[in-house]
Amino acid sequence: MRPVNAGPEDLVETRMTVNGTPAVLTLPARITLADALRDHLGLTGTHIGCEHGVCGMCTVLLDGEAVRSCLMLAVQADEAEIVTVEGLGRPGELHPLQESFGRNHAVQCGFCTPGFLMSSYDLLAHSPSVPDEELPAALSGVICRCTGYRNILTAVREVRDSCPDGPPPPGNCAPPAPAPGEDSGAQDG
Ligand code: FES
Ligand code: FES
Repeated sequence: MRPVNAGPEDLVETRMTVNGTPAVLTLPARITLADALRDHLGLTGTHIGCEHGVCGMCTVLLDGEAVRSCLMLAVQADEAEIVTVEGLGRPGELHPLQESFGRNHAVQCGFCTPGFLMSSYDLLAHSPSVPDEELPAALSGVICRCTGYRNILTAVREVRDSCPDGPPPPGNCAPPAPAPGEDSGAQDG
């Protein structure tokens, strides 16, 4: 991340790769990453609940680690790779976590679901064999106000058991565009 010396309303150019696609945003320095994703890139799957780091609704992956995007300024994500819930599965080809949440009725109103999906992806990617007794605490960073946690835990447990080496990577992330002059890797004829 490059150092930023700017007032809150100063416009700062911020480059990030979001779901595999490079983005260049010119934003006031005070804008959070959550607001940048939602309001400037149209990625409204990242939900905002408390806006002070408690509810976990706004969880995204930043350079492969789960972060609360309401607690970060967008300029702090300069040059980072971001994955949002939109990057997890493809239309018609859901990520196993999305399938499991649906199959196990782990979704009611759905407001917490993006946060739970990204948080549970992060958990299983880092701890693919997390034991049953540790799952509730490991997922306690996201708050659900209506489903009840049992079905969410069951959904995550099923993916843990079916993917012993960790969940497959997010499937809806475009490969990074080649830099100017760089070979795209495509093979001719
Ligand atoms: S909106 Fe970010 S933690 Fe609640
Ligand atoms: S499904 Fe409604 S808040 Fe979790």
